Amino acid sequence: MASGLAEFVVIANRLPVDRITGPDGETTWRKSPGGLVTALEPVIRRKGGAWIGWHGAAGEKLRPFEHEGMNLVPVPLSEEEVEEYYEGFSNATLWPLYHDVVAPPEFHREWWDAYVRVNQRFAQKAAKIAKKNAVVWVQDYQLQLVPTMLRELRPDLRIGFFLHIPFPPTELFQQLPWRRQILEGLLGADLVGFQMPGAAQNFIRLVRQRVGHKTHRDTVYLPDGRTVLAQAYPISIDAAGFEELARTPEVIARAAEIRESLGNPKVVLLGIDRLDYTKGLRQRLRAFGELITEGALDVDDAVFIQVATPSRERVGQYILLRDDINRLVGRINGDVGRIGQQPVTYLHASYPREEMAALYRAADVMVVTPLRDGMNLVAKEYVACRYDEKGALVLSEFAGAASELKSAYQVNPHDINGMKQMLLAAINADPRENARRMKAMRRQVMENDIDLWAANFLRELNAVRDPHAKNPRP
Ligand code: G6P
Repeated sequence: MASGLAEFVVIANRLPVDRITGPDGETTWRKSPGGLVTALEPVIRRKGGAWIGWHGAAGEKLRPFEHEGMNLVPVPLSEEEVEEYYEGFSNATLWPLYHDVVAPPEFHREWWDAYVRVNQRFAQKAAKIAKKNAVVWVQDYQLQLVPTMLRELRPDLRIGFFLHIPFPPTELFQQLPWRRQILEGLLGADLVGFQMPGAAQNFIRLVRQRVGHKTHRDTVYLPDGRTVLAQAYPISIDAAGFEELARTPEVIARAAEIRESLGNPKVVLLGIDRLDYTKGLRQRLRAFGELITEGALDVDDAVFIQVATPSRERVGQYILLRDDINRLVGRINGDVGRIGQQPVTYLHASYPREEMAALYRAADVMVVTPLRDGMNLVAKEYVACRYDEKGALVLSEFAGAASELKSAYQVNPHDINGMKQMLLAAINADPRENARRMKAMRRQVMENDIDLWAANFLRELNAVRDPHAKNPRP
């Protein structure tokens, strides 16, 4: 990508492509399945934009390249930076801290130094390729210092930031030794987006208390006359894309095949998550195991499929979790299983979208029970796939999605008895009741897709202020 050419720049920790190696060892890139790229790709194409991100391998420098009309600009990370910036500060400090400290966050000064260094590298790349007055959209917790670093290099740019994970309550955020630097990093943006209104309010309060800026409602007033807006933009999915996939004959056939291979049980329960300690896997499996042990569910009638996608496999808490879940699944199956009848089918693997859609169609009850989650897109994907208005969603009240999917069977995942009751309620409900709930949830999900989310954010970012005008726009 030549310098100074991009009118629209996305900066994220990861590039929106995965490298795949063919049978002869040749490598190609394939677009990642996520909704974010689906929404931003057309904008990038239309504007001749670029996406800056890490390509996923340590110690390798790649030149910018084009993929399906998108300019991709790889940012290199050394082995040490992967350990300190990515696995360390991003995923063993910020991740647990921002998710209600459900695992203890670790604070290490060398990790912070690497975080600063890598954020600076991302900012420099953007400063180089962005056209004058371009729009730059920075994504997520790995890059919270980029907005201010970039503004220092390029005050002409319009900068947006979106946090995909929760923003913690002020009491927890205060634990961070570098709390002020993070807040100041984010304040380089014109618009800071969060999943929930409460997160935006936490941020505004912290800016007032810790940085001492004047604030009013969702606006921060900086001493130099600039304003920063903090608002909620609940993210969504490519809802129509999922529904379309779920309607294909291949997916319908595969869903039937999945049920068949489980012995056509009366009830299929399903969990699909990254293998992460925030997802409440342990609580949900325990609830299900107890229902079988106590005889409320029969091992001949009910099967729980848990897909756990491998994630951040070198980070200590993830290694512990993997062992923990392996043991728990082994115990449940060992205690209550019979020959040919395993109550829990546990899959530590990642699957393509087609297989996910088939699983969603095969599941009578989708169980999404995070202890804390910014949004949770699996819940929305399930709803998008159930155009037949069948199936039930059991959803943690601590997922961002709970404030939109009010007709889900909502649970507190810490309350195992409450969760058992709610699982039974979802399983035994009159199909008309479940159809009523699904219809209401589908209205929400199908009308508020990822395109609308991106359009709303970008419209607000364009309206925030004119960087060259003396006075902010009305
Ligand atoms: C969450 C984060 C993303 C992250 C993804 C996968 O959804 O909000 O920023 O990319 O998890 O995690 P990974 O560490 O593999 O990128």
